[in-house]
Amino acid sequence: MSDLTNKRIVLGVSGSIAAYKSPDIVRRLQDLGAEVRVIVTNGGREFVSERSLQTISKNKVHDNLWDKEAELAMGHIELAKWADVIIIAPASANTIAKLCHGRADDLLSTVILATEAKIMIAPAMNQHMFASSAMKDNLQLLRKRGMLIIEPGFGEQACGDIGEGRLAEPSEIAKQAADLFTSSVLSGKNILITLGGTKESIDPVRFISNHSSGKMGMALAHACIQAGAKTTLIVGSISVNIEKRAEIIHVVSADDMYKAVMKKIKSQDLFISCAAVADFKPKTTNKHKIKKTDHSMTIKLTENKDILASVCQLETRPICVGFAAETENHIENAKIKLKNKMCDAIVLNDVSKTGIGLNSNDNEVHLITKNLSEKIEKNTKQIIAEKIIDKLANNFFQSS
Ligand code: PMT
Repeated sequence: MSDLTNKRIVLGVSGSIAAYKSPDIVRRLQDLGAEVRVIVTNGGREFVSERSLQTISKNKVHDNLWDKEAELAMGHIELAKWADVIIIAPASANTIAKLCHGRADDLLSTVILATEAKIMIAPAMNQHMFASSAMKDNLQLLRKRGMLIIEPGFGEQACGDIGEGRLAEPSEIAKQAADLFTSSVLSGKNILITLGGTKESIDPVRFISNHSSGKMGMALAHACIQAGAKTTLIVGSISVNIEKRAEIIHVVSADDMYKAVMKKIKSQDLFISCAAVADFKPKTTNKHKIKKTDHSMTIKLTENKDILASVCQLETRPICVGFAAETENHIENAKIKLKNKMCDAIVLNDVSKTGIGLNSNDNEVHLITKNLSEKIEKNTKQIIAEKIIDKLANNFFQSS
């Protein structure tokens, strides 16, 4: 299933009659979940209206390297950094030649030079231009530089010729963009993830819980599925949409989560314990709602089972990855957890900072194993999850 959820795409529209299809490309990318910003070249503007692109992309169209206001809002370097992928569709013969020479004489060519994002080129031109040796050499050079060429189609062209050079269909362009993010590094692997908070009942109406939203765990689920894994989620209390492609088991308390994990753990290759499991629960749960009889009250707590540590102690167990939610002595505390719980890796996040960690859309983490401690810089939880999964796959499953 193609998916571009949370992906940021810059669509570069250059001068070709096929530019009239660019609003449809924007729509197709959005349909797969992407946020799209459009850069249009002078040539592109001749064939498609800025207003259509702006209305459909729901963002101001970028067209001028020298526009002070636009640079203040989102400068060309920011735009280059913002993108996960830049697609030039249609890519005219002139734009392709400019890329080969590394020119930076307009916004699109400058952003391309400044970006670390993946670049996709969808050529569109007359069949003879496309068949020329100059074009063949140029495309070969761009391929060598790691750009992905979305091959044009064969058929009737705007000029009346019949041949190769028609812009690939918008749906095909969107699909190929989504394919960039679908790897098979975890294909055939079974992955179990716990996520969200647990609720520990005090009485029929009250409970002890925490601020976990499930966003980090759901992003991991998404990344695992994108990487080809069969993914099972043990879901506590969350406030995020469910990843429908995973098998879902809902639980409430830490005890429920423990039981659900133990039932599923046997067949897993990787266990990621992302849930914010309550360390303690009320020693007794009142059958009836507790009455207010005094100005203060004491609730006696007792320890919950440590799910992660229990899995790590199983005789046959999967690769086990925990999360450490820390507010001080971060790395030191995370290393202690790695050792005490006997897991293979710990993902450390700082839950004292606003803007990352609990209930935020972004995170910043350290991936810690016995041999490495690697920082993954602040980004959306989806990007952080993809980087974590990539690194776990490289570390633990590369040779199998
Ligand atoms: O859900 P979000 O809003 O997106 O926030 C994500 C998160 C901050 C909750 C997540 O990134 C995170 O840090 N999860 C772990 C939170 C936690 O319980 O940390 P801890 O340091 O207390 O526990 C260490 C590890 O032991 C964790 O993997 C935890 O799942 C596990 N644990 C803890 C207690 C327990 N009884 N059983 C466990 O398995």
